[in-house]
Amino acid sequence: MDGFSFRMPTRIEFGEGKESHVGELVSASDGARVLIVYGGGSVKRSGLLQRVIASLDRSLIPHTILCGVRPNPLSNLVREGVDLARDEKVDFVLALGGGSVIDTAKAIAAGVPYNGDFWDFYEGERAPETALPVGVVLTTAATGSEADGDSVITSSETGLKRETSAACLRPRFTVMDPALTETLPAYQTACGIFDIMSHLYEAYLSTTAETSVSDRMIEGVMIALTEQAPRVMADPHDHQARANIMWAANVALNGMIGAGREQDWGSHEIEYALSSEYGVAHGAGLAVTMPAVLSWYAARSPERLATLAVRVWGAPEPKAGDPAALRAAAEEGIAALRAFADSLGLPATLEEVGGADAAADIPRMAHDTCFSGGRTGTVGGFIPMDEAAVTEVFRLMCA
Ligand code: NZQ
Ligand code: ZN
Repeated sequence: MDGFSFRMPTRIEFGEGKESHVGELVSASDGARVLIVYGGGSVKRSGLLQRVIASLDRSLIPHTILCGVRPNPLSNLVREGVDLARDEKVDFVLALGGGSVIDTAKAIAAGVPYNGDFWDFYEGERAPETALPVGVVLTTAATGSEADGDSVITSSETGLKRETSAACLRPRFTVMDPALTETLPAYQTACGIFDIMSHLYEAYLSTTAETSVSDRMIEGVMIALTEQAPRVMADPHDHQARANIMWAANVALNGMIGAGREQDWGSHEIEYALSSEYGVAHGAGLAVTMPAVLSWYAARSPERLATLAVRVWGAPEPKAGDPAALRAAAEEGIAALRAFADSLGLPATLEEVGGADAAADIPRMAHDTCFSGGRTGTVGGFIPMDEAAVTEVFRLMCA
């Protein structure tokens, strides 16, 4: 295990009706003038927006609104939000929605005090050092953005999806009411579940030795997710399954299980190309990307994946010291992950998300994946993948 510094400052208010206390939570975080950020309108249809505004009104907190965040959120709306926040002199950004809305709120929060274009934080080495405080009322169970310091935005100019990460972007509070996720379409619920599973894999695929405690935590959350997912897909109003999945999303990415270990994140970096190129939902893109990345890894270093296959997916213990058996066990686990994605109704091939001619896009997507900050590098921490390797991975996604 490696040394680490871990601080999770986000106050979590979990449970039904907690959104009615948002005004008090903003006040407790010293917010006096709020920018509310939301997406395409689901929060209006559900009545959440109205309940939140009523709560702010009760706490005598003035607000202004920025709406229209779309999935795979764009940089030009962030710039609009930065201008609006400055004009209205807001001192707090409140996100009502899922990862796309939260990431936009964080980008605005970082952009307001910055003397330059916020995109500097998403391209290159510079990370935000200061940001307006952010609060969240969460409506999806997926990204973990409600308690982490990450934000993922797509450039309106180049179409490239990039991320930044900074402690100052961790929300001050997050309201997590599982009932708010009951209006999610089944496809979006499925995308969220696979995203959670992928975050657990990204942390599990580590080159750090002796990480028994976090290994077992990750395996436990994975098993719980495989148990809860069929319940919620069968009955979208299964409140307890919704609650467990919402908590799993948070646990997967709030930093606890990833502490003291190197992590992978190769599948995520490659998936961003699919979101950029085809506008596919992040979790659906991962259902295509991750099995391909894992197969590429299994051919080179199958031990971790074999362990996971045995402990989580019930594969038989491979014969010790037999490389072919290790590889077979790893592949059995990957097949089980594919079957899990299939049970959620998610796509499996590049063609399903990009059309019959999607293979023609591979060279460009491989280049874009590895090109950042003006140079070409590698992605993934478990086994670093250069442009040639990423090209191979994209080919493994083809039907
Ligand atoms: O825009 P509205 O009308 O709200 O509709 C949204 C949107 O169309 C809808 N939706 C959300 N909550 C709903 C609802 N519909 C009905 N009822 C509800 N309760 O769902 C659609 C998708 O929303 P989105 O926010 O895009 O989903 P998600 O939470 O999966 O976020 C995905 C984004 O987060 C990024 C992804 O790359 C993607 O851009 N990620 C952010 C991370 C982070 N900051 O830590 C980590 C993740 O790995 C991920 O990369
Ligand atoms: Zn993700």
